[in-house]
Amino acid sequence: MPKKKSSQNSGKKLSTDPYKGVRDFYPEDMYIENYLFETMRDVVEHFGYEEYATSLLEPSELFEGKTSEEIVREQTYSFVDRGDRRVTLRPEMTPSVARLVAAQKRNLAFPLRWYTIANVFRYERPQRGRLREHFQLNCDLFGVKSTEGDVEIILLAYELMRAFGATESEFEIRINHRAVIPETLALLAKEHGATLPQQKQGELIRLMDRRDKMKAEPYAEAMRDLLGEELSKIVLLHYKPSAIRKLIAQTNAGQELLDVLETLDRRGIQNIVHDPHLVRGFDYYSGTIFEVFDTAATNKRSLFGGGRYDNLLELFGAEPLPTVGFGMGDVTLRDFLETHNLLPEYTSPIDLYLGVTSPAMFSFAAQLAQRLRRHDLTVAVDLTGKKVGDQIKTASRKKVPFVCIVGEDEEESGMYRLKHLASKKEYVVPEGQVADVIFETLE
Ligand code: HAM
Repeated sequence: MPKKKSSQNSGKKLSTDPYKGVRDFYPEDMYIENYLFETMRDVVEHFGYEEYATSLLEPSELFEGKTSEEIVREQTYSFVDRGDRRVTLRPEMTPSVARLVAAQKRNLAFPLRWYTIANVFRYERPQRGRLREHFQLNCDLFGVKSTEGDVEIILLAYELMRAFGATESEFEIRINHRAVIPETLALLAKEHGATLPQQKQGELIRLMDRRDKMKAEPYAEAMRDLLGEELSKIVLLHYKPSAIRKLIAQTNAGQELLDVLETLDRRGIQNIVHDPHLVRGFDYYSGTIFEVFDTAATNKRSLFGGGRYDNLLELFGAEPLPTVGFGMGDVTLRDFLETHNLLPEYTSPIDLYLGVTSPAMFSFAAQLAQRLRRHDLTVAVDLTGKKVGDQIKTASRKKVPFVCIVGEDEEESGMYRLKHLASKKEYVVPEGQVADVIFETLE
């Protein structure tokens, strides 16, 4: 009788590919990922940042109030749950952390320095540096109004890059100020005898945000469509760093931007530039904004960024709270480190691999391993019963530094031949010295 096919899988083999735009982490990838996360934790905790976490599921309206139209309209993973609630897989952490702070505002000791390393989801077209799931280090400083807060956050971003081994010439920190952009645009128009209508400002800034992603001609055309011939010409020709720098001091918010730039300069940070075209897509930014860029010709792109957002807590009916922070993604960071040869080489978590001469010796080998682990060694036993030569090959493929074959001779003599695979050196020692020899060699 022919076998009945399952209705769910009608005999077709399942693909082993992950879902489009997300990653699987095999152990060697996980090694890198852990290196990124451990380095991040080390740096931010030295700055006094405390860790928090939230669920990746949030009510959809959290992201619909004041984030980014593009993300909400085109990039969220949203669904209706079995209780008819609209739910979204978080596309970023900022609304969630604002929710946490608003909920406990009275009980928290400000200023707060908080961080999380969280996975976020965006339905984007997968490409280099852009995936549908990535991990983000988020650092946010709540309750500091002075530009010293902005400076601390930018310095933290800088120190993270340095901790990953980057030199100042390998990355650049571009800085701007959200409130300065419309003010300088208006002043520039005035200088050239024109007026920038208030109602066009928002759209103009959104267009500027897309500038890096567009070719020059379509950008100029979109500008002409929005502002008309005369005004678009003024913006296209004269909205340049040198001209804008002169106007900053005349704006209300300009002093903040100048303070940030000058303070960072005084602190000796050389790779800072003012970029008048830097916008950052989210609607909640209200002050300083910044983005870290790779300077390598082969990877000239934004790595991560953030800024000041003093009004987000209003979403929850709370008083405004001065806040500044950033999100650093693992995908762009990894690409950067690869480009600059800064990724660490994989090393196995196993110090010692015990090969076993025959299945009859498995129990002896397992007990030996257990005793050695008490000396803080990481030890794995080969329980396959394969030929000894193949067991050594396995250790080598796993990049384990030390291998030792265990059999009746070793049980009888109590002496062990440790082989360091990289140097091919051998050490014959009693059990009590195994850990010492390995630690001395690996140091
Ligand atoms: P964002 O610029 O949208 O800002 O994301 C922060 C970083 O996450 C990006 O610069 C990039 O490193 C990474 N990233 C974003 N989207 C993707 C993607 N599709 N694939 C890979 N990596 C990606 C925010 O999310 C703000 N909430 C950051 C913030 C925190 N501002 C203040 N506090």
